[in-house]
Amino acid sequence: MNEPLLGVNIDHIATLRNARGVDYPCPIEGALICEQAGASGITLHLREDRRHIRDADVYEMAQRLKTRMNLEMAVTEEMLGIALKVRPAWVCLVPEKRQELTTEGGLDVVNLPNFQAFIHSLQQAGIQVSLFIDPDLHQIDAAIALGADAIELHTGTYAHATLQNDQTKIDHEIKRIKQAAAYAQANSSLLVNAGHGLTRDNVAAIAQIDGIHELNIGHALIADAVFMGLESAVKAMKAAFTEGKMINN
Ligand code: PXP
Repeated sequence: MNEPLLGVNIDHIATLRNARGVDYPCPIEGALICEQAGASGITLHLREDRRHIRDADVYEMAQRLKTRMNLEMAVTEEMLGIALKVRPAWVCLVPEKRQELTTEGGLDVVNLPNFQAFIHSLQQAGIQVSLFIDPDLHQIDAAIALGADAIELHTGTYAHATLQNDQTKIDHEIKRIKQAAAYAQANSSLLVNAGHGLTRDNVAAIAQIDGIHELNIGHALIADAVFMGLESAVKAMKAAFTEGKMINN
């Protein structure tokens, strides 16, 4: 089994910066530390309300990253225009609601109007496209039909079950994610990523699913960094992929 890559989501460094309206801590500096500590890529979510990452962060980061940028964004014309200017290696399309604390569910790629054209515009500019979806076979079928390059399976329900110590739900969710990953691999050349709500305590069961290419992790890793420093937090998260506790039966 190949260990998945770690993509670090650095949005919460910007959250901390914006809380004071100053220019530190700098998310770009944070991203460079993560890369040096072993992150394979940097994920950042330019939200429509700009609550953490701002346009200037995206443009500067595009110049300075050594690995690759995974720009999370909503399916809007404004975001398409920005992505076409920035040309990140990857765009991950996510649903967005103004009131949510974080991305609450997967994108419903079965029912989005004009979606194929949106994806093609990105791909024609040399950007690879990932779709953040629930581990649901209908969504995967649609992602294949749309010609996406990758899917990112939403692990939020699993992560929530681990916080509640609900073993029945944990087992059920791991099974769903395993089935979704196996289905995508058997039926397409999609890369299969996963993320949301992953922590050093719950990541091993997901990291050890066959064929998961990359895990995108933000909040828990930045929270670890408050106590252990960012470099150590990246290393500790990677170690937890294999050494973390397995919380499924
Ligand atoms: N992947 C996607 C598509 C997300 O929207 C987020 C949250 O911004 C993450 C991964 C990271 O989630 P978390 O911050 O809970 O680790």
